[in-house]
Amino acid sequence: MEAIPGYVIDRKLSSGGTAGVYRALDLESGRHVALKILFPKWSKDPKALELMEREAWLLKSMDHPGVVRGLASGHWRGLHWLAMEFVAGPTALDRVHRGGPLSAPAVLELGRQLGEAVRFLGRRGVVHGDIKPANVLLAPGGRAKLCDFGFARLLRAGSPPDEAVFGTVAYAAPEQMEGEPGVDSRADLYGVGATLYHMATGRMPPLPDKWGAPPLIGPEIAREVRWVVQRLMAPDLRQRYRSADLLLGDLDHMKRLRGGGRGGAAPSARVADEFHWEFN
Ligand SMILES: Nc1ncnc2c1ncn2[C@@H]1O[C@H](COP(=O)(O)OP(=O)(O)O)[C@@H](O)[C@H]1O
Ligand SMILES: [Mg+2]
Repeated sequence: MEAIPGYVIDRKLSSGGTAGVYRALDLESGRHVALKILFPKWSKDPKALELMEREAWLLKSMDHPGVVRGLASGHWRGLHWLAMEFVAGPTALDRVHRGGPLSAPAVLELGRQLGEAVRFLGRRGVVHGDIKPANVLLAPGGRAKLCDFGFARLLRAGSPPDEAVFGTVAYAAPEQMEGEPGVDSRADLYGVGATLYHMATGRMPPLPDKWGAPPLIGPEIAREVRWVVQRLMAPDLRQRYRSADLLLGDLDHMKRLRGGGRGGAAPSARVADEFHWEFN
């Protein structure tokens, strides 16, 4: 089916609240792409259109291995679409549903990769706003890529407070849910923590309690994972990691203590296999 000229859709990957995502063949390059198409009924909603356009613009303008690449976008007969690199792997959510929790080294590696992506976004003044396992794609070779920038916002001075983003409750930082102005990369670090919590325990994180402590994690989970997740998921900003750099510093230190060499290297074959459990 050639719903959008130049692309032949071959299967549906997902059907979300406002858009469907399909695998399609890009006739020009001969490669598969992921095509996100806004459902027609949303094309008349200015807010939905604006978010879709912003997502397309952001993904096309960013170049980082931890962020899914935007290739092209446009509209055709009332259909607004975005073509992205196709990631042939499960989402982190599929992975934990089918394969169960990840080992501590795999959780820490995921944390490192997501931490690098958040650092990259932060330097560009972008907050993703909805980091959660369903928005993390696990590419072959053990590479995690963030997708779904539909909630992303730019940290421009003077952006109106009503631009507050509401991510998915269990993974969203409390300051974000309150719609506080000045939400920054630390909200994304909370989302990374909530994602790691889910991947390490196999359970969705509990709802954040703004005045409370980070969620308790049992001793069956490795101490390093507990430490990192608790510092990422601290509801109180004064207790949360202040920056992705501090998270990456801790992870690097832990990796060296475990004898895994310095951080920054490609994930080990074992970790890459674990990300792709269902394909083995
Ligand atoms: N580039 C991609 N490659 C492969 N699958 C993708 C890609 N982008 C999205 N998907 C799949 O589509 C789902 C929904 O995409 P997403 O951008 O998160 O839209 P939504 O706003 O509906 O959540 C993802 O959870 C993933 O399963
Ligand atoms: Mg999504």
